[in-house]
Amino acid sequence: MLKTADPILFDLIGKEEHRQETEIELIASENYASLDVLEAAWSILSNKYSEWYPGKRYYAGQEFIDQIEQLAIDRAKEIFGAEYVNVQPLSGSPANLAVYLAFLKPGDKVLGLSLDQGGHLSHGHPLNFSGLLYEIIPYTLDPETSLIDMDEVDRLATENKPKMIIAGFSAYSRDLDWKRFRQIADKVWAILMADISHIAGLIAGGVLENPVPYCDVVTTTTHKTLRWPRGAIIMSKAEYEKDIARAVFPWVQGWPHENLIAAKAVAFKEALQPEFKIYARQVVDNARVLASELMNHWFKISSNWTDNHLMLVDVFGSFWVTWKEAEKALEMVWLSTNKNMIPYDTRKALDPSGIRIWTPRATTRWMKEAEMKVIARIFSDAVRNKDDEVKLASLKQEVLEMCGRFPIYK
Ligand SMILES: Cc1ncc(COP(=O)(O)O)c(C=O)c1O
Repeated sequence: MLKTADPILFDLIGKEEHRQETEIELIASENYASLDVLEAAWSILSNKYSEWYPGKRYYAGQEFIDQIEQLAIDRAKEIFGAEYVNVQPLSGSPANLAVYLAFLKPGDKVLGLSLDQGGHLSHGHPLNFSGLLYEIIPYTLDPETSLIDMDEVDRLATENKPKMIIAGFSAYSRDLDWKRFRQIADKVWAILMADISHIAGLIAGGVLENPVPYCDVVTTTTHKTLRWPRGAIIMSKAEYEKDIARAVFPWVQGWPHENLIAAKAVAFKEALQPEFKIYARQVVDNARVLASELMNHWFKISSNWTDNHLMLVDVFGSFWVTWKEAEKALEMVWLSTNKNMIPYDTRKALDPSGIRIWTPRATTRWMKEAEMKVIARIFSDAVRNKDDEVKLASLKQEVLEMCGRFPIYK
């Protein structure tokens, strides 16, 4: 219908669909939601106002909406084993804001991983609400190993007695020591919050350890490794239900997007299927092959390994190629990537040394180890031959051919 009603927009959506089909997306955070998830997301549920929670809404006509939201809550509980789940957060940053508001007062101290070492804006950056409203004590990585320095976390916590400690990241490729985070939080009576936005799918798929039993509160976006619609959820111990529910609504949000909550329910069901475990395992296997192959091509990878789905490639430190030159060359061969600081980067945040790449999106197309080897070789050839248009054109043909063999939506 859109084709006739709004041909300009229809054409643009079609072009974007073609771009997604013909490029290999290595941008960390992006994934493909299934057609079932997309169908629920654009359903008539978006016509309904349903402020507050199942069984206690401000508007009438909630018989089915309540059941849908409850279904999403029950499925999330089944996946993560949380006592309380709030499925209303519209996105990751509002979910984190709700947690800060539920547990803290402005000016309280919070310990979080520094953004330039792999943390997220909402873990305490001065340009974000978190850094504006709270006193942030950033912790860092060991300069030798590029691993989180847990002794430093312990020392900073003991010295500063923060009200909350955040464990989580946007650009870190190694496991987190949930048990040690818990011990440190207990020692100083701090709330332990995990932001598992990046690794939630790997936890749901049983590849990484679930932090829910160790933490007071856990947030996650639903659109990264989980392949769900854009949004987020908050999980916590039962005793925090009232505080979190009130912080989400009415403090941070109004009307929950029930169409997206329904899409979350569909995707939670997908994550409960045995096939999702295979997917999660493949994501990590692919990342390990991609990282080792890139190192074989003489690229420096932060911490020399990945335990999860992503890696930071130091393109400047490896070949004196800036991220901008690398991104442009990779774009010309239809590999999408994004710039990122590497730990202790000597360059600036907007002009860093690194590129962050991940495997979940290519793995959703069921690309496997063999394809990762080809991607590593194309990545390397493109960066090293960034000014050779003929070479780049032939690499692009290889990418196109590979995408043709792995369609997104069959
Ligand atoms: C760890 C982490 N937390 C929170 C967010 C924020 O999510 P959103 O972009 O949905 O607000 C992100 C997004 O990239 C993230 O990586």
